[in-house]
Amino acid sequence: MSGAAPAPVCLRDLEPLVADRLEAGPLGYFAGGAGDERTLADNEAAFARRRLLPRVLVDVEGVTTRTTVLGTEIALPVIVAPVALQKMAHPDGEPGMARAAAGAGTVMTVSTLATATPREVAEAAPGAPRWFQLYVLKDRAVTHALVDEAVDCGYDALVVTVDAPRAGRRERDLRTGFAVPPGIDMPGVSAAAGHSAGLTPAGFFSLVDPSLTWKDLERLVDAVELPVLVKGIHAPADARLAIQHGAAGVVVSNHGGRQLDGVPAGIDLLEPVAQEVAGEVEVLVDGGVRRGSDVLKALALGARAVLVGRPLLWGLAWDGEAGARWVLETLRAEIELDLMLLGAAAPGAVSRAHVL
Ligand code: FNR
Ligand code: LAC
Repeated sequence: MSGAAPAPVCLRDLEPLVADRLEAGPLGYFAGGAGDERTLADNEAAFARRRLLPRVLVDVEGVTTRTTVLGTEIALPVIVAPVALQKMAHPDGEPGMARAAAGAGTVMTVSTLATATPREVAEAAPGAPRWFQLYVLKDRAVTHALVDEAVDCGYDALVVTVDAPRAGRRERDLRTGFAVPPGIDMPGVSAAAGHSAGLTPAGFFSLVDPSLTWKDLERLVDAVELPVLVKGIHAPADARLAIQHGAAGVVVSNHGGRQLDGVPAGIDLLEPVAQEVAGEVEVLVDGGVRRGSDVLKALALGARAVLVGRPLLWGLAWDGEAGARWVLETLRAEIELDLMLLGAAAPGAVSRAHVL
């Protein structure tokens, strides 16, 4: 008799564990990328191409994974990426993810397309550091209401996603006919469209304003008291424009390979952007982070911290809040070990010389 599935050991163990629990539609939506999924695959492959170069006889007895991001203390250089539709993965949803992030001592980024309101997520983990990811919708009243609610609930920053004026060509969703299942509601979407269930990704993405320019970003920065990060930066020149228009930071990201297929991996986009804006604003990166060693490679190439998406979704699908917490704890333990073996006693001690 085969017993229960073996407990996961690393983040990559999770997706196979949950694949048979999720319907084909949600699974394809969560796992999928755009087009031929070349960028999706390269996000992870690019980390494998990088090599770490340890230094020895460095006192690492007092090793710590703690750092800061935008002045906020975090227990590890890993931020929970904004991911839509989390109650489709597990009933704990974004509130559960928020409790997991709070318990692990890091920041959760809540999506505009969350299945809970900014207030519900804030109330799930009172006092925990939290960012709100904004899609600027054509419906500016709904957009402003979301921002106002986030500000009112004490969110610490706004993360404006700029690489999705329209949904990428998600062919897994075309093959499964994915649409938001009955009983799943995205309050932000329903406020703008009247409902969420039945919408395809192209449907809910059609709510996003594709006419946005840097002027609009500047107006948003001027209108809100919060620091604004720009997520979805690929080109160094756009990182420069982000700063010129008031951004407090940038997230180098290809949206997990879900938007324009054929762009470089996040880790390969990072260094030129970091060289352009080093020391002026903090640079974060995401896409394909699955190991503590991936995090160290990102730090060495100029990132302040990384964002993690899918592994946390798989953790949520596997065991709700506890599963997401396991992902963050596992990553923290890997980062701590890898720092010691790299010869760096803290994230701030990781330098460009540590990666080939
Ligand atoms: C995302 N991502 C995303 N980004 C964003 O700004 N707003 C959003 O609502 C979402 N939603 C979303 C749903 C799903 C299912 C995935 C997989 C991704 C992108 C996300 O924030 C992040 O950029 C990538 O997920 C990072 O890549 P990894 O860690 O998933 O490889
Ligand atoms: C996605 C959106 C929600 O990638 O960002 O599906």
